[in-house]
Amino acid sequence: MPGTRQPLDKLLLFGATGDLSQRMLLPSLYGLDEDGLLPPDMTITGTARTVFEDGAFRKFAKEALEKYLPEDRKDKDKIASFLKRLNYQALDATKADHFKDLSDELGDTSKGLAIFLSTAPSLFEPTIKGLAQAGLAHGNVRIGLEKPLGYDLASSREINDAVAAVFPEDRIFRIDHYLGKETVQNILALRFGNSFFEPVWNAQGIDNVQITVSETVGLEERAGYYDGAGALRDMVTNHILQLVALIAMEPPARYDKDSIRDEKAKVFRSLHVMTPEEVPQNTVTGQYGPGAVGGEIVKGYLDELGKPSTTETFVAIKTRIDNWRWQGVPFYLRTGKRMAVRRSEIAIQFKPVPHSMFAGRGGLLQPNKLIIRLQPEEYIQMLVMAKEPGLDREGIHLREVPLNLSLDAEFAGARRRIAYERLLLDLIEGDQTLFVRRDEVEAQWAWTDAIRAGWTANDMKPKSYASGSWGPSTSIALTERDGVTWQDD
Ligand code: BG6
Repeated sequence: MPGTRQPLDKLLLFGATGDLSQRMLLPSLYGLDEDGLLPPDMTITGTARTVFEDGAFRKFAKEALEKYLPEDRKDKDKIASFLKRLNYQALDATKADHFKDLSDELGDTSKGLAIFLSTAPSLFEPTIKGLAQAGLAHGNVRIGLEKPLGYDLASSREINDAVAAVFPEDRIFRIDHYLGKETVQNILALRFGNSFFEPVWNAQGIDNVQITVSETVGLEERAGYYDGAGALRDMVTNHILQLVALIAMEPPARYDKDSIRDEKAKVFRSLHVMTPEEVPQNTVTGQYGPGAVGGEIVKGYLDELGKPSTTETFVAIKTRIDNWRWQGVPFYLRTGKRMAVRRSEIAIQFKPVPHSMFAGRGGLLQPNKLIIRLQPEEYIQMLVMAKEPGLDREGIHLREVPLNLSLDAEFAGARRRIAYERLLLDLIEGDQTLFVRRDEVEAQWAWTDAIRAGWTANDMKPKSYASGSWGPSTSIALTERDGVTWQDD
């Protein structure tokens, strides 16, 4: 709530010399600064293993901004003024005395410190301990945690326990950058700001829900992380399940951190946890082979990686939510690298009409569909039946036509912000609504672990698919045997 926001005046960025920092964090912070949204005296301290002087870090940040900011956002004076906020302290998280140096560099943090922590799962514990010992976990410190927060339920609990030993839950901000996306927040506006969806938003009105997050990129120099994670942990456990929760949750009473997260957590707790026997029928995994994406010939995963691997780069899952509202409604989820197009989309297919009065006159009906396109375009489309113009001498011709709401066009004047802009500002100001609570994360992992256990028990290996395709053909069978077709247009 704006009234209770409490901005801090120091920000500490772990992984400051990494890829996320260059592409997202520094451009986001600059974007906020440019619009006058950062506390005027706030300093930003970068830290990582790389040894840098302040000057070298500023140069690094300047290059990152030049590379990743859109041309129309590059303002020489504003960049120069942003860079003045930056300083740097190298840190090896395994060395306790380095945290003392970090604390000296930060100086007085009594007016508040926000920490953005992204690190390898194995370094979470020493980092949290180091911060605590150096006095950097006091009551006016908030910590933002970037994924991966573990690789299964047990390791995620370990990390959560280590953090909880030092920070109470109301000062922990677990990041899922999908929640920072404007279109993802728009799901809440669509569902709870309009009255006409709610009466049909349930098993009586909805036949099935599909969520697709397809990417055209491959490994992107992240082999070290990605090969140990795979598509299920990298995309489904967090981002896609958050989308499931926003689609499936009960209406929260208020737009606040407790109301919204309580409802999401209930969805996660109602997700059907698969038995090993159910896994082969309900999941498909794939790994991209060579092919062409966007007209460009690309290598297969194993060639990019340079060693054998059974990591999945594609996964499709049929799951369900065991509660009253969603009884019997399949949720089909899929995500993959090196697919035909880059697209994040939710398709809600409604039930057909109970009886077609047009059948005797040759009119064919399609069930209504609501498409929520999250990226790259932002639109909401309702597919409805309409009669083709004509005198109908040879029967009535009905056609599916789109009712289009283009958010891009409707809000053409509004700047689209990077998801991290929103999340960093909320961290700095202390609003947890768009961050993930511990019980959510643990329920997500419990569901994921059951699927992975099923893969192991059934010795399931990913099937190869051509880069530039929609994944292995078996993923088509996953929906087709229920009479459902993936929304691919
Ligand atoms: C990250 C994953 O969390 O999300 C990446 O680790 C993935 O593998 C990325 O590419 C996708 O994010 P976006 O915002 O491009 O959909």
